[in-house]
Amino acid sequence: MRILITGGAGFIGTALCQYILDQTDHDVINIDNISYVSNDAEVRKLDKIERYTHYKQDICDYHAIQRTFYQEQPDIIVHLAAETHTDKSLEEPQNFIQTNLIGTFNMLDISRNYYENSDKDNFRFLNVSTNEVYGTLGEKGTFTEEDNYDPRSPYSASKAGADHLVRAWLHSYKLPILITNCANNYGPFQFPDRIIPLIIKNAHQQKPIPIYRKSQNIRDWIYVEDQVEALMSVIDKGTVGDSYNIGGGEECTNIDLAHMVCDIVDDILDKRPQSSRDLITYVDDSPGHALRNVMDISKIEADTGWKPKTKLKDGLRKTVEWYLKDTKYLLQKAS
Ligand SMILES: NC(=O)c1ccc[n+]([C@@H]2O[C@H](COP(=O)([O-])OP(=O)(O)OC[C@H]3O[C@@H](n4cnc5c(N)ncnc54)[C@H](O)[C@@H]3O)[C@@H](O)[C@H]2O)c1
Repeated sequence: MRILITGGAGFIGTALCQYILDQTDHDVINIDNISYVSNDAEVRKLDKIERYTHYKQDICDYHAIQRTFYQEQPDIIVHLAAETHTDKSLEEPQNFIQTNLIGTFNMLDISRNYYENSDKDNFRFLNVSTNEVYGTLGEKGTFTEEDNYDPRSPYSASKAGADHLVRAWLHSYKLPILITNCANNYGPFQFPDRIIPLIIKNAHQQKPIPIYRKSQNIRDWIYVEDQVEALMSVIDKGTVGDSYNIGGGEECTNIDLAHMVCDIVDDILDKRPQSSRDLITYVDDSPGHALRNVMDISKIEADTGWKPKTKLKDGLRKTVEWYLKDTKYLLQKAS
């Protein structure tokens, strides 16, 4: 198959491109305009692989993306490209609306024209979305695919809107779509303005570690390799038109997560002047954060056989080891 990935130079995209090139015979076409979060150097290493092509294009540029579709003749679209930082979406919502809604519309409209004019009967459009579209849970329960959307931030509202567009293209134009709504991912190559690499970075540099005051908020965390395998299993075995929740199968309060990461950093670096836990500083919470967001993953397990393999404590150790092995990655600055 020829798999066209948008956002393939981002955190999840880098892992997905590497997985497909390492574990399958599929070709990868990566459309990514390379932003400050992108793993530019890492994906440039893939250029030497014949089955891989990168287009530095913006998904908001309709004609450029359309040309790439007809040139590359993809069988599968995995749409990851998005503005993704929830807190940033409060400051610059316009970029989120532009890429996440207009960009997704472009991808759908181009896919529809392409699909209708091709003989690709097994064409699929997988929209990679988030559990933030569901809003928040109380102290009990999990999100299922039947839950109503209740987004709370410009980011989650733009992703929810994108999911609605994707479903509309199924019903209106019979575009064969799939949607995944995933929990918080962690692992290598995540830009260090996100919480786990930020904790590692500040613990490493013995700087204050900012944690929101509502540190008892609960999150579902999934190791990025598990997420990539889940996406591949949905492409392979998912039912056209369906949504699939993806999660790590474990929940953890923000403060427990911060403590776990601090302790692993201290354990690896040994003989620290100060316990990294003591660097934790409480900062005001952003509005719109969920109290608890935990996924019911029984549908993806039943339909595709996928299960998360990585326990949180093991995935965190692998992640911390990766970031501390070459701290250059941690020291990058957001532009
Ligand atoms: N990271 C998570 O925890 C998580 C959880 C659930 C869902 N998701 C979804 O998964 C997808 C990927 O997330 P991520 O964490 O890898 O994001 P990321 O921010 O690390 O990467 C996004 C990539 O998309 C590219 N991009 C952004 N706008 C673009 C545009 N207009 N044209 C072309 N490329 C563009 C960026 O350059 C970047 O390389 C997103 O759609 C996100 O909503 C992420």
